Amino acid sequence: MPPSFSLHQADAVDWLRELPDGSVDLVITDPPYESLEKHRKVGTTTRLKHSKSSSNDWFTIFENERFPALFSELYRVLKKNTHLYMFCDQETMFVAKPIAEEVGFRFWKPLVWDKRKIGMGYHYRARYELILFFEKGKRKLNDLSVPDVIEATRVWAGYPTEKPVEVSEILVRQSTVAGEVVVDPFCGSGSTGVAAVNLGRRFWGCDVGDEALSVTRRRLLDAGATEQVSERGAGQVPLSFE
Ligand SMILES: C[S@@+](CC[C@H](N)C(=O)[O-])C[C@H]1O[C@@H](n2cnc3c(N)ncnc32)[C@H](O)[C@@H]1O
Repeated sequence: MPPSFSLHQADAVDWLRELPDGSVDLVITDPPYESLEKHRKVGTTTRLKHSKSSSNDWFTIFENERFPALFSELYRVLKKNTHLYMFCDQETMFVAKPIAEEVGFRFWKPLVWDKRKIGMGYHYRARYELILFFEKGKRKLNDLSVPDVIEATRVWAGYPTEKPVEVSEILVRQSTVAGEVVVDPFCGSGSTGVAAVNLGRRFWGCDVGDEALSVTRRRLLDAGATEQVSERGAGQVPLSFE
């Protein structure tokens, strides 16, 4: 059976609130954190011009003050003994880590995504991003030989801040088995989803943006996955939580 996916257009926290307790096996996500605004101003992050895949110049920011609600919902929807990965910069790491620990996550370490080439900027031009690695309960990584620096060339001219699928594939391989449910509540262009379905996992995604959802849907269908459509309409909620 081909892997399935469902997509939902909503605010991430509102959407997570609709999911039952303990229904998710892995979260990989990349919120539009506040300090992106700063990178945007000094030009150290992805271009602001129109791209092929997006008609928006940028997307709205998810304020740091909303992290307590986000992390507490993520903790609730994850099953016992699961992982959470969150892309962010060092400034957001210092804000997010204590909030995630407060709701019950164990913080293991930041992984480094090495983009192989320097980006724009002024002092110490950016070449890496962080991926915070959290655990709920205790789950062994599938391959203990994987290093904490993941090399992958950045995506050029894609969706704003699009992440390479190969980075998420490493995380999906490490923290799930086939058939499990991978969730991204800020799915953007759907890189987490493509990684999940490429590896035979199920994917549930959410984003506020029309463009994000249509790019994600197209990519997941192209990857051979089947969309689950509920009685409430295409892509509104997953058909089942089993
Ligand atoms: C950093 S991007 C994700 C990029 C993605 N990782 C990729 O590879 O394409 C963040 C996404 O969050 C979405 N977003 C912004 N505010 C949101 C909210 N409150 N709830 C859900 N999604 C939101 C934006 O539309 C954007 O697509």
